[in-house]
Amino acid sequence: MQHITSVSFGEYKGFINSKYNFPSFLRQISDCNSLLEKPECQILLNSRNKIGAIKIKLNGENYKEILIKKFSFSGLNKLKTFFLPSKTIKSWESANKLIDLNIPTPFPIAFFEKRRKGFTKDGFFITEKLNHVQEIRYIFMNYKSIYIEKLLSSLADFLKHCHNKGVLHCDLSDGNVLVSKKNDNFNFYLVDVNRIKFRKKIGILKRIRNLIRLGVPPSHQKFFLMEYIGKDDLPIFYWIWYKFNKFLYWEKIQIKKKLGLKKLAKLLRIQ
Ligand SMILES: Nc1ncnc2c1ncn2[C@@H]1O[C@H](COP(=O)(O)OP(=O)(O)O)[C@@H](O)[C@H]1O
Ligand SMILES: [Mg+2]
Repeated sequence: MQHITSVSFGEYKGFINSKYNFPSFLRQISDCNSLLEKPECQILLNSRNKIGAIKIKLNGENYKEILIKKFSFSGLNKLKTFFLPSKTIKSWESANKLIDLNIPTPFPIAFFEKRRKGFTKDGFFITEKLNHVQEIRYIFMNYKSIYIEKLLSSLADFLKHCHNKGVLHCDLSDGNVLVSKKNDNFNFYLVDVNRIKFRKKIGILKRIRNLIRLGVPPSHQKFFLMEYIGKDDLPIFYWIWYKFNKFLYWEKIQIKKKLGLKKLAKLLRIQ
């Protein structure tokens, strides 16, 4: 179990890991909006959520590079925060559970959010920034590289380990698995953890379905699944189940894309 302390900065309330509970550090993170605006803050993403990395003073002469993820809530998502824990809280809770289970994820430093009349307006989730990592999507995009089989075999082992511990990342996509390579060994990390579910046991069909969002190159999908199952011959039903669910997922994406285009056309009044 991690030691955590509650914090409050004006309207913002939340928790910080006690390892980081230093007055100067608290002072700086108390205004994350300003940190995200600083020229030295490296913005990694600026859409629905805003993500920035910045080096800040921890205590004495020690600096730490942190990653700030800002969640903003509006419309239905805001309404949901009245009844259900927000994405900020879920990220914080999941990251701490993963650390307790020894599943690699960026170390959670703090979270806090602004609530008004029972609704969450916005919130921040702060973690340690990982260095020398890349999203597995970049390896899949360049999959002719010689180490793809070694990577897929290590990835299959890692995901099997997560599943065995009851960890089900419901948004297991290529951008949410980070990888670092050290002396021919791969280390994986789960990010974007607000949609992780923790189960006692996960059945085989659910496990296989959990793997379909990963963009494993088609030429290597059978290999990947065999590595995951850990058998030399892949039961045909598992293979069909994997391909069928991948197809359904692909269809869902296409429909979403089409709906997106229609909305845009309507907006531009060209249809
Ligand atoms: N702690 C971290 N250290 C390094 N890079 C990170 C960290 N957290 C996120 N990233 C990078 O930022 C990207 C977006 O973060 P993510 O939490 O997945 O946001 P989103 O919800 O918008 O998908 C990730 O795919 C990863 O490349
Ligand atoms: Mg993501």
